[in-house]
Amino acid sequence: MPALVLLGAQWGDEGKGKATDLLGGSVDYVVRYQGGNNAGHTVVVGDQKYALHLLPSGILSPGCTPVIGNGVVVDPSVLLSELSGLNERGVDTSKLLVSGNAHLITPYHETLDKTTERFLGKRRIGTTGRGIGPSYADKINRVGIRVQDLFDESILLQKVEAALDFKNQVLAKLYNRRAISAEQVVEELLGYAEHLKGFVADTTLVLNDAIDEGKVVLFEGGQGTLLDVDHGTYPFVTSSNPTAGGACTGSGVGPTKINRVIGILKAYTTRVGAGPFPTELFDDDGEALRTIGGEFGVTTGRNRRCGWFDAVIARYATRVNGLTDFFLTKLDVLTGWEQIPVCVAYDIDGERTTELPYNQSDFHHAEPVYEYLPGWSEDITKAKTFADLPKNAQAYVKTLEEMSGAPISAIGVGPGRDETIQVNSFL
Ligand code: GDP
Ligand code: IMO
Ligand code: MG
Repeated sequence: MPALVLLGAQWGDEGKGKATDLLGGSVDYVVRYQGGNNAGHTVVVGDQKYALHLLPSGILSPGCTPVIGNGVVVDPSVLLSELSGLNERGVDTSKLLVSGNAHLITPYHETLDKTTERFLGKRRIGTTGRGIGPSYADKINRVGIRVQDLFDESILLQKVEAALDFKNQVLAKLYNRRAISAEQVVEELLGYAEHLKGFVADTTLVLNDAIDEGKVVLFEGGQGTLLDVDHGTYPFVTSSNPTAGGACTGSGVGPTKINRVIGILKAYTTRVGAGPFPTELFDDDGEALRTIGGEFGVTTGRNRRCGWFDAVIARYATRVNGLTDFFLTKLDVLTGWEQIPVCVAYDIDGERTTELPYNQSDFHHAEPVYEYLPGWSEDITKAKTFADLPKNAQAYVKTLEEMSGAPISAIGVGPGRDETIQVNSFL
């Protein structure tokens, strides 16, 4: 089983960090392929809790080489502070590899992200404000700065000047802000270069060689399927491709090399930021899910919007990612409800559909159609096998599996590494 992708099947925060960490001990490489420090992946090891933003969760597994692929946008200051934070806690980060082709997030990207959001006012996306969108926009506009540019001072200055030419006009004339000095940006970036040099590698070559040698490579997605810039709820999305295809473009590994695609799926649904969310709850149940599930953003600390499980979305994730398995997380959070609503279809202006509408206005009008499954009250956090789960919890999992279109191969019953029921092996 040389290469597998692990990605979010909903709107992010499904528990990808925990799932990656769980596999970390058995894989040789863990690769981030898109996104940047907009991600917040929580890993709980014993009594230690780690919040990772840019680094792959495999960094916590000693035998594993963590890789930041070409598809990631790298804020060098965040990368260095995340590394030193882990070093202070005794984590060895020396194996990290960073693609020289990954694009940088510079201070002006962060400034533009925040000013654009402010300018959008009521129409804002609710971004994390980390400069993600502006950095990817520069990449596509061919005025981006790449990791490798850090090591050639004159090229770096030329590129930063080219990138700022237009932006400074926008900042000064439209946003009424001070223009940014290219020299100052270059000076800051050069200050990171020496610290990063040792990590930079031709990661595409490294990963393809590793797969050819039979090593196990795990691609760890950031965000989630419905936040994908192509397949998500555009424009309320992130600016990259968390879906399975992104693992190929974001790492330089071809689709024929990937054997398994695992969708991380929360037993209910959450979303951070603006955009449609059919099963969102505004009542005590929503508040209870938030409190019991600890649904507060790891990156921005914002309250996560909470709602019931949406099988239409899960099925859609199976389709656009070609999922082979699901990892169902946070089943324990649902303990205590007498009955649990599950969205099986949408009612859109009087018409029932079981597929995600491709028309955005339809999706904004979608009313959830619920089926009600019987709940359970027993504590399930100590369950080690599927048979340990109460009958109604088993039935909840089986029903979700039938509705979602791929086998549920693991079930999370708590945040810890060992609070997992493995139904089928991933490797
Ligand atoms: P990610 O962005 O997909 O890695 O997810 P986050 O770390 O943002 O949010 C998931 C949260 O749920 C974290 O606090 C995890 O520690 C926690 N978590 C993961 N799996 C489980 C589970 O099965 N049960 C419970 N109770 N918590 C979990
Ligand atoms: P993980 O990896 C949840 C959301 C933001 C906003 C939209 C665009 O922890 O699951 P961006 O800063 O990316 O331009 O913001 O995407 N968003 C996330 N929501 N989890 C994440 O990451 C997210 N990363 C971005 O809230 O709505
Ligand atoms: Mg998260």
